[in-house]
Amino acid sequence: MSTLESRIHAAVSRVRDQWRGTRFIDGLEPGPQGTAALLDVARIYRANRLEIGRMRLLSGRAVAGLFFDPSLRTHTSMEVATGRLGAHFVHLQGGQGTWGMEFADNVVMNGTAAEHIREAAPVLSTYADVLAVRAFPKGPNRDETVIRGFAAHAGAPLMNLESALSHPCQGLADQLTLCDLGGGSFKGRKVCLTWAPHPKPLPQAVPLSVLRAAVLGGADLHIANPEGFDLDPEEVERARSFCGDTGARLTLTRDPDAAAQGALAVYAKGWGGNSHEEHADRVAGLGHWTVGDARMESATAFLHCLPVRRNVIVTDSVLDGPKSRVIPQAANREPVQAAVLLSWML
Ligand code: CP
Repeated sequence: MSTLESRIHAAVSRVRDQWRGTRFIDGLEPGPQGTAALLDVARIYRANRLEIGRMRLLSGRAVAGLFFDPSLRTHTSMEVATGRLGAHFVHLQGGQGTWGMEFADNVVMNGTAAEHIREAAPVLSTYADVLAVRAFPKGPNRDETVIRGFAAHAGAPLMNLESALSHPCQGLADQLTLCDLGGGSFKGRKVCLTWAPHPKPLPQAVPLSVLRAAVLGGADLHIANPEGFDLDPEEVERARSFCGDTGARLTLTRDPDAAAQGALAVYAKGWGGNSHEEHADRVAGLGHWTVGDARMESATAFLHCLPVRRNVIVTDSVLDGPKSRVIPQAANREPVQAAVLLSWML
């Protein structure tokens, strides 16, 4: 075994010392120590990925990626990470080329859905060593029907590729990016998560994952949003419960300038509030929440999960300027997902 392969095995073993779970749904599952161990695996992968690509560490394994919604980064980074590790990636589009799926129990299936999750998840689990699922909410923004259905019925480990309330792979990549910005760690560093205008009332999966990522890493997190766009209070309290362990601090404010002042990173995201019907009208009066040069003046870096609407969420000058770190942030998706795959399949 090469030195690099030994390092990877040792790093994966440190993940398993902390986390033996087979569900990566909201990103909190590995806990602070398990997450730190996953980030170590991701760093080794990132620094050596061409050599790792020749090792075929997960040869013979398979990952089924089931996408009920579009993706550029998540699909590509999952497929590339899986391939680089020597495993096979099966890309499935939910309802397009696969059967329409039913998730409710005790229903008469005489509508459009031909297949029930009670068969689909176990069957996929016989072919694939890991299932990875993306499903945005179709109803209220707390609708986690699809990912919960897979979690209940999949025998294989399950990775959430974004649901109503969680985008854990994005959150893990964001932790790696914040660590890079902070010189290895962002513990105690000020991070700003700011609401920004968007024409649609988007789910809160990304901002909630940023919150969880910041708390797991011990950040001094300032969340700024206008009245009526508060993050899900239940999820905020759940994340807050980790603050005691990690030393994280949480400030909720209506003042985006104060939140951004001196921050290591200003992370912008649009999300919906309680009243979706009035979303467009309300956003029309909130143009001053677009992140521009003045808001970024004393901050180190600008982050966004992408895709981003230029001159709605953030101005061209910030996005194209020297503080924007959105490309390396997106690049970090591949190594963190590889780290989770290795921790389950190596
Ligand atoms: N950030 C992110 O998840 O991008 P995609 O929607 O393109 O996968």
